[in-house]
Amino acid sequence: EHLKDILSNEEFVDILTTFPKERGIISSYSYQYQGFWHNPVHLHGIINFQKHYEPRENDIFLATAPKSGTTWLRAILYALINRKTYPPNDPNHPLLSKNSHSLIPPFELLKPSEYDSVCNSSDPSTRIFGTHCAFGSLPESITDIAKSSNRKIIYLCRDIKDTFISNFHFANKANLRPSPISLEDAFDLYCKGISAGGPIWNHILGYWKESLEKPDKVLFMRYEEMKSEPHFQLRRLAHFLGKPFSQEEENLCLVDQIISLCSFDVMSKLEVNKTGKGKQLISTGALFRKGVVGDWKNILTADMASRLDQITEEKFRGSGLSL
Ligand code: A3P
Repeated sequence: EHLKDILSNEEFVDILTTFPKERGIISSYSYQYQGFWHNPVHLHGIINFQKHYEPRENDIFLATAPKSGTTWLRAILYALINRKTYPPNDPNHPLLSKNSHSLIPPFELLKPSEYDSVCNSSDPSTRIFGTHCAFGSLPESITDIAKSSNRKIIYLCRDIKDTFISNFHFANKANLRPSPISLEDAFDLYCKGISAGGPIWNHILGYWKESLEKPDKVLFMRYEEMKSEPHFQLRRLAHFLGKPFSQEEENLCLVDQIISLCSFDVMSKLEVNKTGKGKQLISTGALFRKGVVGDWKNILTADMASRLDQITEEKFRGSGLSL
């Protein structure tokens, strides 16, 4: 509770030492706050956001555990919300020259003074923020339905084995560690729940439960469904946001155009996504690897796969959720 009163970086550093600390996968160390593990920069961002976020009427949050397909859904969401200003076939579309993380920033990496300047939709009452924050750590003005007017949350999750593999590769590409981590060490930490935003199961369950209770406020999406039925999922997303495609837009094949613009092939070949640098100086190229379903089969041993499956089975039992 006392953390909510943190005002400055210096104080934050002092307070950081009071949190449980473990080795991390993507960064050297992880700190536990409100039941979830975070790298120190993200944790500072979350605590700042809890304290300083001032809601706007229609703010939208795109929440994910790291490596669930955030980069992709950010691009889709941006293209969808801004389709009137920037038709998806516009040769000067912002997504062709900017990485989706700079168009839809994660609030963890923003300073409080920057919240107001997020301007990623033509409607000033709507800002779109990304986040890896657990549902329970979001400010009450977002999670409390009575207070939350029209604010919406979109949650994207992904097969846990694929998410783990993507974390492991990213950890050794992102340059946030002094030395590479082995598959075995990363796996062990992941299974113990010590991953960015982890335990992954609790992260997913938090949003899953809210999506069942408040389906008009929290939309639960899956990477695999985006892959297998992108048109259906994009229309579902548009409908959830109260911005369904009109007949005219359908006739113009806008759904198709957004899917093509944001496809792995198009996005991963753009100069900005090959050579750019994002916040924390992570190269944008690290955000694009294979973009397929089931790559875990090429890397995990049968024992590892069944251990993760077993944990998932146990954690999700009784929730109505299976991955
Ligand atoms: P892989 O490492 O399995 O290839 P995040 O954006 O949450 O960091 O997730 C990254 C994962 O999404 C990576 O998975 C990456 O390749 C994949 N990805 C990035 N852009 C994508 C796109 N346009 N379509 C599908 N997958 C994409």
